Amino acid sequence: MKINTLFAALLLTPAVAMSADADNGKELYDETYFEREINGEMRDDVTCATCHEPAFYTRSDRMASSYKNLEQAWVQGCNDKMNVGWFPEEVADVTAYLNKTYYKFPKE
Ligand code: HEC
Repeated sequence: MKINTLFAALLLTPAVAMSADADNGKELYDETYFEREINGEMRDDVTCATCHEPAFYTRSDRMASSYKNLEQAWVQGCNDKMNVGWFPEEVADVTAYLNKTYYKFPKE
């Protein structure tokens, strides 16, 4: 059963890569827990939302400047810096979620 699911996932991968899945991105964003020191305390229940309120993404001096920049610099950047371990497809899904919900950049 597990193996079948894995094969199905492998078969589906090209389709997923072609169009990022914002719903999956939301799940990843909300439910990926990682380890990080927060205010001097080592925690293992950190999520993106631990550091980022929704208003962070819509403030007037936000840093992401385009869809591509959001994906490559910021979502990928925090993924790397926090050792979250998302694959490129997952970074793409989270980007699609953040863009759909907050940034609203035209997709390049
Ligand atoms: C420990 C705190 C922390 C966590 C956890 C964190 N970030 Fe960040 N993030 C930052 C900081 C700080 C910045 C500001 C840029 C910098 O200083 O590198 C930032 C910037 C960003 C930006 C750019 C915002 C803008 O101004 O447009 C995005 C998007 C982002 N993070 C996404 C994420 C995602 C997705 C996750 C979950 C994997 C995440 N962050 C987890 C600290 C965090």
